[in-house]
Amino acid sequence: MEHDTIAVVDFGGQYAHLIATKIRRLHVLAEILQPEADVGRFIGYKGIILSGSPSLSSYDEEGDYDKAIFDLPIPILGLCFGHQEIAKHYGGKVEHTRREYGPATLELRGDCPIFKGLARRETVWMSHGDAVTLCPEGFQEVGVSLRNGGVHPNAAIANNLLGRYGFQFHPEVDNTVHGEEMLKNFVINICGCRQDWTIGEFLEEATERLKEQARGRDVFLLVSGGVDSTVCAVLLGRVLGAERVHLLHVDNGLMRKGESEAVAAELRGRGLGKNFHFVDGSERFLTALGGVVDPEKKRAIIGNTFLEIFQEEAARLKLEDCLLAQGTIYPDTIETGGTKRADVIKTHHNRVPAIRKMVEAGLVVEPLANLYKVEVRELGEELGLPEDLVWRHPFPGPGLAIRLLCSSGEAPRTEARAAETLEKLVAEVGVDGKLLPVRSVGVKADLRCYERPVMLWGDVSLERFEKLAARIFQEVPGVNRCVVDIGGKGCKETKPLAATVTKERLALLREADAIVMEALRRHGLYRSVWQCPTVLVPLEIDGRGKELVVIRPVSSKRAMTAMVFPLPPQLLSELREKIMALGDISGIVLDVTTKPPGTIEWE
Ligand code: XMP
Repeated sequence: MEHDTIAVVDFGGQYAHLIATKIRRLHVLAEILQPEADVGRFIGYKGIILSGSPSLSSYDEEGDYDKAIFDLPIPILGLCFGHQEIAKHYGGKVEHTRREYGPATLELRGDCPIFKGLARRETVWMSHGDAVTLCPEGFQEVGVSLRNGGVHPNAAIANNLLGRYGFQFHPEVDNTVHGEEMLKNFVINICGCRQDWTIGEFLEEATERLKEQARGRDVFLLVSGGVDSTVCAVLLGRVLGAERVHLLHVDNGLMRKGESEAVAAELRGRGLGKNFHFVDGSERFLTALGGVVDPEKKRAIIGNTFLEIFQEEAARLKLEDCLLAQGTIYPDTIETGGTKRADVIKTHHNRVPAIRKMVEAGLVVEPLANLYKVEVRELGEELGLPEDLVWRHPFPGPGLAIRLLCSSGEAPRTEARAAETLEKLVAEVGVDGKLLPVRSVGVKADLRCYERPVMLWGDVSLERFEKLAARIFQEVPGVNRCVVDIGGKGCKETKPLAATVTKERLALLREADAIVMEALRRHGLYRSVWQCPTVLVPLEIDGRGKELVVIRPVSSKRAMTAMVFPLPPQLLSELREKIMALGDISGIVLDVTTKPPGTIEWE
């Protein structure tokens, strides 16, 4: 191996790939291997990391991988499920315990090199139902977790002589405050890796890979104009030459205000205009989406319609022999259940079954498929793209369609105790709250959920509402989101309205979204906020309006987890005034949900 490399064994947790990314950010190459890989494949790696898993029940008790991996003279770090596997293998005990979920305090014991330079107490992120209840012989308990007044043993275990380490928590997620330092101690100090891998290196390797994959064939790329597809188009142009890259922009009628026109102008201005094609597919997408409520059906229709138009255009332009190119990035794959054991959170438009079949048949090139947005942005800068493009907010392929919540007009059923528990929790804080009669998509403990939001209102700070939301998610069944009323009117009676994707709703959302984007830019916050979807929810409230407007500002680094971005009160009151003036609005709320349990988009 040219570079010192770490092998990450992917047991299917949502964060497995994040481990590899975090290591690459240390300028050390990391590769993902499947657990079934022959043990011989691991030779030559400087270290091995065993990832988490969606749940033990979805995975054979014994684990379908070769335990001979533990005989290799290579340092191994196990995370969550991986930690439990290490404990079991060396004679410890793993038992089903109460689920620990969210932030916890890790208290160090002894002086383990994997925690070099860290404080005695660290904030870490937990998400597990099983735990190591007996530390294996020869291992030391080097950390315990402190939660709700209790001490939970074996949060971190180590055997320095063997070079085996296990963490019950996830150092790879940003919420483990010094997780990167822990990974660095393992990768650099324990495994002895040299830090000589860069995004420039990725560019060189991607160039080689692309040339080999294309083997003289031209490529045909669907460009939305977002960061991923634009970086992909420019990369393909640079590697294969502009004349071999054919671009198709489809206006699906689901774009933001003025976006399609801007995209066309930009790509033409970038020397990629010769083979740039444009199709107005807006009527076709709208017709196909007519009457559809289910979010996964909407996503499938949009993905398939893109593919149909693409194939028709390929035939019309005599480009059928081209490979399909896509700006797919890693979260698109993992959320679509694209690794062997991961759950389907949402089907991304570039991962519908017809496209997955083409991927398997080797007909698709996706040079960014292993990257996260931060890395795509770095690559964009390396390729010389301007700052305003590189830092554009992510915008989903299905566009505004998944920000128009659809409903059959019937309230979803709820467990009887949900309303009661909610009432008790809000009363403790002295505010009001109501379960809304609609559903949105979320992710809980690595699994998809489709549950109800709670609307909160009252005279306490947003911070207080966020804390209340965290308790609601733990205690009220069937709730994956909380929104706070900023319209000032509260909510007594709600009536769900039957609604699907229509031109009128799209036009209203487009205006509301443009107001939010303009305000973020004017307040100098556009770059600090990761993304700020505006969502329309078809609800009449106390006899008012037809649409509840949701503002969802989030901060994130890789979109796998997200925190609520605190917008200043002045900006919120401007939004309230301008959006309420659009007409037919029943209220305006701020989404105060972290991811998990809510996803960034509502569908
Ligand atoms: P969620 O909503 O799952 O989204 O938290 C994570 C990130 O992915 C974007 N997203 C998509 N991007 N095609 C895309 O290209 C899609 O189908 C899609 N769905 C969600 C979302 O905007 C966020 O940045």
